[in-house]
Amino acid sequence: MPVITNIEDLRVLAEKRVPRVFYDYADSGSWTEQTYRANTSDFEKIRLRQRVAVNMEGRNLSTTMVGQDASMPMALAPVGLLGMQHADGEILAAKAAEKAGIPFCLSTMSICSIEDVALNTKAPFWFQLYVMRDREFAANLIDRAKAAGCSALVLTLDLQMIGQRHKDIKNGLGAPPKLTVKNIVNIGTKWRWWTGMAGTHRRTFRNIVGHAKGVTDMGTLHDWTAAQFDQSLTWDDIGWIRERWGGKFIIKGILDAEDAEKAVQHGADAIIVSNHGGRQLDGALSSIVMLPSIVKAVGDKTEVWLDSGIRSGQDILKALALGAKGTMVGRAMAYGLGAMGQEGVDAAIEVIRKELDTTLGLVGRTDILDLNRENLIFPQDVPEPFGPAGI
Ligand code: GLV
Repeated sequence: MPVITNIEDLRVLAEKRVPRVFYDYADSGSWTEQTYRANTSDFEKIRLRQRVAVNMEGRNLSTTMVGQDASMPMALAPVGLLGMQHADGEILAAKAAEKAGIPFCLSTMSICSIEDVALNTKAPFWFQLYVMRDREFAANLIDRAKAAGCSALVLTLDLQMIGQRHKDIKNGLGAPPKLTVKNIVNIGTKWRWWTGMAGTHRRTFRNIVGHAKGVTDMGTLHDWTAAQFDQSLTWDDIGWIRERWGGKFIIKGILDAEDAEKAVQHGADAIIVSNHGGRQLDGALSSIVMLPSIVKAVGDKTEVWLDSGIRSGQDILKALALGAKGTMVGRAMAYGLGAMGQEGVDAAIEVIRKELDTTLGLVGRTDILDLNRENLIFPQDVPEPFGPAGI
C-alpha cells in the first residue's frame, strides 16, 4: 500500500487509476478555470500566526453541524458521479464518513441511489437536491430521501445551468461514457477500475434513470442538465421544497451577502458559501475571500459553512478562524476514492484530521471553537520592511 501523507498523494494516484473522462470531470473548473484556481491559491495568501509555550494538550476538534455531532468540522460534499471514480463510490464514501464520525452528503447526480446508500450504511446521511423542470420528480426525490432516513436536505442553488467544462465536452462525458475509441483505449489501461466496475451493477445515475418520466438514457451530462434542470427556479420556490422536506434544511451555493440574507429569510438552518468548486461562474471570487462578508451579514442568524478549495486541515483552520462553523470537502474525497476506494477516503479524512489537530496546537489553541481572526496574518499585516508586496 502506498504511503499517503497528504491529499496531493491521493490526487496523483487517482489520476493514474481513474479513466481520464471521470478524473477530468472531478478535477475540472469551468472555462478558464480562474475561479477554480483562486479557490486554492487564495488560501495560500492567508498565513497562520505562530504562538509558542501554550499548553496544547487535550485538543478538541469535535463540534456539531445543524445540531448533528461531527468529530471534526467537515462534511463530505455532494459530488456527482462518485460511483464512476470507483465502483460503488458513494456507498464507500458514506461508509468512510460513518467510520470517521462526520456527515456524508449524497448528490442527486450520484451513481448509487439514495436507497443503495441507505441499505449499505447505518448512520443517517444528507441528501443534496437539484430541482428539475419535472417538479413531480423533484418532490419524489425529497420523499425518497425522507423515506431513507436522511437527516438533512441540501438544496443547491448555483447550478440551474451547467458551467462549461471544456474537457467534459471533449471527453464525451456521460454515465456510462460515450464509447469513443479514445475512451475505450484509456479505460482498457485502468485495470483496477474496470475490474471494480465489472463487479457492480451500479453504472448509471440511479437516482434518476427509471424514476424520472421518459429518462431511459442520460446522453451527455451537459445536454441532459440543459434539458432537465429548472432554469426558472427562484426564491419563491424554496417554500414548498422546505415544507415538503420538513427537516433540517441547508442551502448550498451562496457567494453573496444579499443572497445569504435571502437564504436566512427562507428558513435555511445552514448556508454553504460555495462557487461549486470553481465549476460554475468562472470569474467569481473564491469562497474563502467571500466568507467574511457573509459571516458578517448572517453569522448570528444561521450556521455558515465553507466549501470550495479546501485541500488540507490548515485550510479548514483558516475558514474557521474567519467565522465558518463547518466545511465541506469534495475533491479530496473524490481523489481518495479514485486512488484506493474506501481506504483512500479514510486516508483523506485522517490526513486532514491530523493536519487540523497539529496546526490547532501550533497556533496556540486547544479547541477549534476558539479560533478567530487573531490566529491569522494577512498580507497587509506583514511587518515592515516586507509589507504586503514582500510576501
Ligand atoms: C455537478 O454537480 C457538477 O458540478 O458537475
